[in-house]
Amino acid sequence: MNDTFRDKVALITGGASGIGKATALAFAEAGAKVVIADVLEKEGEEIARSIQDKANEAVFIKTDVSDTTQVRSLIEKTISRFQRLDCACNNAGIEGENALTAESSEENWDRVIAINLKGIWLCMKHELQVMVKSGGGAIVNMASVAGLVGFQGLSAYCASKGGVISLTQTAALEYAQHGIRINAVCPGIIRTTMVDRIIGGDPKKEEQYTALEPIGRLGKPEEIAKAVLWLCSDEASFVVGHPMVIDGGFVIQ
Ligand code: NAI
Repeated sequence: MNDTFRDKVALITGGASGIGKATALAFAEAGAKVVIADVLEKEGEEIARSIQDKANEAVFIKTDVSDTTQVRSLIEKTISRFQRLDCACNNAGIEGENALTAESSEENWDRVIAINLKGIWLCMKHELQVMVKSGGGAIVNMASVAGLVGFQGLSAYCASKGGVISLTQTAALEYAQHGIRINAVCPGIIRTTMVDRIIGGDPKKEEQYTALEPIGRLGKPEEIAKAVLWLCSDEASFVVGHPMVIDGGFVIQ
């Protein structure tokens, strides 16, 4: 364990799986007290316990990020447990259905936007209220390369991630003078439950996805977690409103 985040409190939404899980573990490893928020209770509790087993403080708070009351309660519980909030990684997200724009459903649009975009806005709204009062903080929102380029069959997902980048830039401008730095991360294709769901165990599909990555492999959740921690750290003290691309070369093709 290093001490980069000693005495700091870090909140990670969607922290029960994939990139969020790796980020929660990385924050704990760097000495932070960790709040894991997710809809997956069993998995979230297990990760919190595994952090506690290493003598670090961690708590799981079951939260649906698209629900105002639950998000408000998440921040209240965080403050009541740890008295502060220094870092937040708003990461919870879903890919939604794969269908061309003309064939996709309104339900899918509403659900993807509610979780991926409104969820980040809601979390930031309540995180920022606390951070403004305490005089500072750092927020990293999970966007995607899908917020920078199109992906056929994922119109709601791409729109939500483009929205996350725009929302990040706007909030970053609004709160820079409050000592709060807000940035985004745009991962390429990262091997997580989400991507496993998309690949569906089909070796041919896996090959196709790997071929999309100039680096010749899919990314690892830990490679995104490292960037989130850096963006939240004092090392990134002049980085504001940046949509950081970490994608094995995907978007430069
Ligand atoms: P994942 O499926 O492994 O993890 C997503 C987590 O979010 C899960 O634990 C899930 O339960 C949670 N979640 C879903 N809906 C929620 C809600 N309403 N409230 C609270 N938690 C909720 O997927 P992965 O890949 O780790 O995704 C994390 C983030 O990274 C997402 O925002 C995703 O869009 C983004 N991303 C992922 C990429 C990839 O290739 N895996 C690429 C670019 C971005």
